[in-house]
Amino acid sequence: MCGIVGYVGKKDSLQILFDGLTRLEYRGYDSSGIAFKNGAGIEIYKTSGKLKDLQKILPTPLPAITIGIGHTRWATHGAPSAANAHPHTVKGVSVVHNGIIENYRELRAELAAAGNVFSSQTDTEVVPQLIARYLDRGLPIDEAIRGAVAHLRGAYALGIIHEGTPDTLFAVCNDSPLVIGIGTDAQYIASDVAALLPYTKNFIHLEDRHMAVLRSSGVDLKHVESLETLPIEGKVVTNNWTPAMAEKQGYDHFMLKEIYEQPQGVMDTLREWTDDTNRLMDEMGMTGTIKDLRRLHIAACGTSYHAGLVGRYMIEKFVHMPVAVDIASEFRDMCPSISKGTVLITITQSGETADTLAAQREAKKKGARTLTICNVVGSTTTREADSVLYTRAGLEIGVVSTKAFTAQLAALSLLGIALGTRKGKLSDLEIQTLKAFLLDLPRLIRQALQTDGKVKEIARTLVGAKSMLYVGRGINYPIALEGALKMKELAYIHADGYPAGEVKHGPIALIEDGVPVVFLATIDGLHEKILSSIDEVKARGGRIIVVTDSPAAFHDKADDMIVVPSTHPALVPFVAVVPLQLLAYHVAVIKGCNVDQPRNLSKSIAVDDKCHNIVCSHSGYCRKSIACAVITPDEKKAIANRVVRLMRVSPWEQLSASSLLESSGQQLQKEVHQEQASKGLSTCFESPY
Ligand code: F6R
Repeated sequence: MCGIVGYVGKKDSLQILFDGLTRLEYRGYDSSGIAFKNGAGIEIYKTSGKLKDLQKILPTPLPAITIGIGHTRWATHGAPSAANAHPHTVKGVSVVHNGIIENYRELRAELAAAGNVFSSQTDTEVVPQLIARYLDRGLPIDEAIRGAVAHLRGAYALGIIHEGTPDTLFAVCNDSPLVIGIGTDAQYIASDVAALLPYTKNFIHLEDRHMAVLRSSGVDLKHVESLETLPIEGKVVTNNWTPAMAEKQGYDHFMLKEIYEQPQGVMDTLREWTDDTNRLMDEMGMTGTIKDLRRLHIAACGTSYHAGLVGRYMIEKFVHMPVAVDIASEFRDMCPSISKGTVLITITQSGETADTLAAQREAKKKGARTLTICNVVGSTTTREADSVLYTRAGLEIGVVSTKAFTAQLAALSLLGIALGTRKGKLSDLEIQTLKAFLLDLPRLIRQALQTDGKVKEIARTLVGAKSMLYVGRGINYPIALEGALKMKELAYIHADGYPAGEVKHGPIALIEDGVPVVFLATIDGLHEKILSSIDEVKARGGRIIVVTDSPAAFHDKADDMIVVPSTHPALVPFVAVVPLQLLAYHVAVIKGCNVDQPRNLSKSIAVDDKCHNIVCSHSGYCRKSIACAVITPDEKKAIANRVVRLMRVSPWEQLSASSLLESSGQQLQKEVHQEQASKGLSTCFESPY
């Protein structure tokens, strides 16, 4: 949730840093700070509260600066206070940090024992302390940063300036995103491209364990362990998002603006491919895969998972091929068997969601081809997947996902048509009909947006609701889940989504007088079954809200009705979801909830649970650590052989790498650590300082 901005350039003002932080406000924060070089030393301004509080303590007029870093902090270690706000500065080294340094307690204790004094309670402060220690030992700044980073475990994106190094900004990251903005006479860093949209369209998404060295004239990339220079070619991506996307443009909230941007997002996603869906397969490099393709597996989280469920209906219909859909965290925990001919599709707005990324890595490791459907150019899933299909929803700022969802549906429908065509499952007539319906969707979504007034009226009657049900059938079932998720996360009303046929198997027990139940009842071959479910709920006093394209069929059953336009049965979710987004939005606004930053939520869940392997404190199945259960078999064998030789442990195959190492004693752990470090890998075992 924290935000980072950094700048190095000529004759510009502190305003750039401050404005960059303003564009990251949507991520949520409780304190902020800025540090910049003023010639001789570093000036630091920090405060708890909002950016307007920071503005009050900054010098006026804002001075011209050539280098600086800024941060918006969401307190994790230590209360929101000026002392705990970033940047943290020790002996002329100033650092901003996103993520969590998991071994900070040990590092802090060690540094404190050596006489270092801490001025905050944060995990971050160990970073400038360690850098300063290496500088004191006479190392140049890049080597001091390397030395410090070698001690860190956990997730970090770091921006660093040093008073003794003329106009150079350093950035390092590991499991926490950081972008480098490439300008002509100025270079930038940020935790999110939104901060930098007015200054550049060219970005490098910094890779794990890479160090960026930024000067006004350009950017160098190095490996953080070897400090070997890395090529920049192929790493710069162009992002065509505009600065206006980071502004509300007259709407009360980003979320409302983004709901209204859906016709555009769907059109922009479709436009690239609808004339020739065949080209899609070629450009994604999937042509060779299609012959042997037997099964698709989708993994995603939250709203993107719901898009995956809709995608399953579409693809199974168009391609006649089995599609499994999993919540990404479940996928990685279950370690599903991946047979030959499986493609794993990850769906993600941000491209940084830790669970989704871990699922993609897991599938890749098991030999699946991976395809990511993603909205952020150059993000981590897109860099790691074999193929990428971009959604063109534009920058989504509202924490709650809306326009990314319909753009994901657009991408999935294109994929379904492209695969169905190549597999010979769709006739020419079917393809032409589907494309005509697809191209009409922006108009139909605009029509669905006209339900806004009616939806707002219904919303007024729902503010007192304690619990709601959303019921759909077939392709509308995931839309019921999505409507319920929106109501939960925005208006904090307990809500569940159910398939219509399931209501009588349990949830009906919840129905009593006035409980609101939203039915997604568009006319298709299945609507008769929705009618019987409506009757069951009505008989028990439930309040019936129907979303339908055929009001005549429901007018004697519904207490309230929202009428959406008709479309092809496989494309109904595009229009059905719109009033549900609006309904949750209006209930939340009437209740006074913060719709752009709902409580306890953040836009991109890039930090993960700990590694599933005990003793390892990396994220997910980290694969970086010697102790990780999913370390490569060869690596494990090499370690095991040494342990077996030294300790006579057997049979080693049944033991995990970590338990082998645990039984090996400290000496071998140290040796293994050093050996791994020389290969650019880290281990769970502390390196000796
Ligand atoms: C819900 C919402 C979240 C995200 C989920 C996945 O409104 O925004 O459920 O959909 O965290 O995020 P991405 O799509 O970035 O992987």
